[in-house]
Amino acid sequence: MNYKAKMLRDNALEGKTYIVTGGGSGLGKSMSRYLLELGAKIVITSRNLDKLKTTAEELEKETGSEVLPLQCDVRDYEAVCKMRDDSIARFGKIDGLLNNAAGNFISPTERLSSNAFDTIIDIVLKGTKNCTLALGKHWIETKEKNKTVVNIVTTYAWTGSAYVVPSATAKAGVLAMTRSLAVEWAKYGIRFNAIAPGPFPTKGAWDRLLPGDLKEKFDLAKKVPLNRVGDHQELANLAAYLLSDFAEYLNGEVITIDGGEWLKGAGQFNLLEDIPKEMWDMLEMMIKSKKRG
Ligand code: HXC
Ligand code: NAP
Repeated sequence: MNYKAKMLRDNALEGKTYIVTGGGSGLGKSMSRYLLELGAKIVITSRNLDKLKTTAEELEKETGSEVLPLQCDVRDYEAVCKMRDDSIARFGKIDGLLNNAAGNFISPTERLSSNAFDTIIDIVLKGTKNCTLALGKHWIETKEKNKTVVNIVTTYAWTGSAYVVPSATAKAGVLAMTRSLAVEWAKYGIRFNAIAPGPFPTKGAWDRLLPGDLKEKFDLAKKVPLNRVGDHQELANLAAYLLSDFAEYLNGEVITIDGGEWLKGAGQFNLLEDIPKEMWDMLEMMIKSKKRG
């Protein structure tokens, strides 16, 4: 057994149906694959229908489960409601929503146009709101229970981060929405949780956050105490668990899966990691001598 192993038992999600936004690529695709392997049926959505159809075909072949690819720009509430209705028409019900779609790029904030800032807020915050509201209203109206929403955020949702300010602002809003609705909609049988992933290599994120030779210049693994980036299966294991009935008592949490990355940046004395082992005898002596003096 290692960290790339699959966590839940066979058929753990049999009978379940989930919507995964941004499910055609990157982490959304990896999480979808595992949900399907566990017996769930999946709707994958994004703007690019050709990409979704190719992914759906590939995942159906690999897993033997059903995938419905639906084009839907999460910024458009009407389109989101249609996507919800088409999903229900095909599968009869939806048990959970994985808000994974996002947009992001690095830029000094003063270089951004107002529209550039809005574009990220609209995809991440408004998109998550649109999908959550569309599904939530439906579940509340039909009095269906045992539903769940998992939102993908980032650790800079609470630390903030320079050079990705629209994304940090939007993800912070998504985290606030997660915690707020975890309380407000618990009475309707809807659970809310979030996942804050550290660096997990994907083409979508790496091309926009580490363009050109930045990939070579900034080795993200070096920022992680465990000295490696995440493996997609590790994230898929966590998402599947949170979406499953095994997590029935887990509500309003954000679970960080980053090898300790954000805490390494936060702890005031973490920089002492760079002190060689041999130096500690001398440092201890110096400190103790101060106490005596
Ligand atoms: C400054 C930029 C820009 C850039 C776009 N704009 N890219 N401004 N620097 N690099 C501006 C445009 O000029 C325009 O403003 C406005 O943003 C909208 O641009 P469009 O190209 O028209 O937008 P759209 O086609 O909707 O595309 C959205 C996008 C794009 C976000 C710009 O990158 C995209 O489709 N991304 C989806 C996938 C993605 O981003 N994945 C990464 C998620 S990773 P004007 O004023 O000119 O009209 C992630 C990881 C977090 O979140 C943590 C990792 C450790
Ligand atoms: P990705 O492959 O670029 O995923 C983003 C997805 O969102 C794409 O499938 C994209 O599909 C979809 N999307 C973008 N705009 C959309 C819109 N307006 N409507 C509907 N779908 C839209 O990048 P990723 O790395 O897998 O990111 C997935 C999630 O993980 C994001 O929430 C991201 O913030 C989060 N995350 C990633 C990392 C990491 O290290 N990779 C770290 C922390 C958090 P289309 O282009 O076809 O629309």
